[in-house]
Amino acid sequence: MKDQVAIVTGASRGIGQAIAEELARRGCRVACVASRAANAQSTVERIQSQGGQAQAYGADVSQVSQIEEAFSTIEADLGPPSILINNAGITRDGLLMRMKDDDWDAVITTNLKSAYLTTKAVLKPMMKARYGRIVNVSSVIGLHGGAGQANYAASKAGLIGLTMSIAKELGSRGITCNAIAPGFIQTDMTEDLTEEFKQYVQKTAPAGRLGTPADIAPLVGFLASPEAAYITGQTITVDGGLML
Ligand SMILES: NC(=O)c1ccc[n+]([C@@H]2O[C@H](COP(=O)([O-])OP(=O)(O)OC[C@H]3O[C@@H](n4cnc5c(N)ncnc54)[C@H](O)[C@@H]3O)[C@@H](O)[C@H]2O)c1
Repeated sequence: MKDQVAIVTGASRGIGQAIAEELARRGCRVACVASRAANAQSTVERIQSQGGQAQAYGADVSQVSQIEEAFSTIEADLGPPSILINNAGITRDGLLMRMKDDDWDAVITTNLKSAYLTTKAVLKPMMKARYGRIVNVSSVIGLHGGAGQANYAASKAGLIGLTMSIAKELGSRGITCNAIAPGFIQTDMTEDLTEEFKQYVQKTAPAGRLGTPADIAPLVGFLASPEAAYITGQTITVDGGLML
């Protein structure tokens, strides 16, 4: 994957940071996108200290103008992207009865509309090259639902439908699109889970533990590689067997 240009959203920490590092290890030039460029700088420094190539960019992925500006700067700086990882995401949990419209809108826009916008922004270069790899970070909650997470579940289920549609539309152009569905992974996002719930995961998952970003990144690296050419439209669960 030497010198392929990869864009990773939400690359400042957690799963996005691990994916950015994995792609850099595989030889990609990685555009690490965060709400503000400064937030992705630590990921860039980690990659550079391992001998990889990366640059930080700022874009709030819920804003089309910021995506368009950042993506055209990335193309000018690094070259046309052949890999897009839609990883940025948020939660605004709450029971449906009490959910505020703003919390619904924020989650759907940041987690789902963003992937529609970023994908549109990379299609031209990918179609021109007749090659592309798109990976959307969904969730087991998008496959199974979650009490108190109607907005998040809808956004992550939406990503799965988007993934299959992109796969069907663009397969003939050498572009694949897949989703991954992580289980419970130890990051800032899951920091507030109760100790009781963490113990439930440890007891229930055959793997006997919560996941880490390092459990997720290698699969994304593979799906983003040329070797994964015949895998498209799939959602692959990485949850230590929790949902079996
Ligand atoms: N941690 C888990 O258990 C888990 C499980 C399944 C899926 N996921 C998904 O994995 C992805 C990464 O989550 P994480 O666990 O690393 O959480 P995290 O909170 O550590 O990271 C989320 C990243 O998204 C970025 N982000 C949020 N809103 C953004 C915006 N508007 N514009 C640009 N960047 C924005 C954040 O800055 C951060 O870098 C998310 O899509 C999340 O839904 C996480």
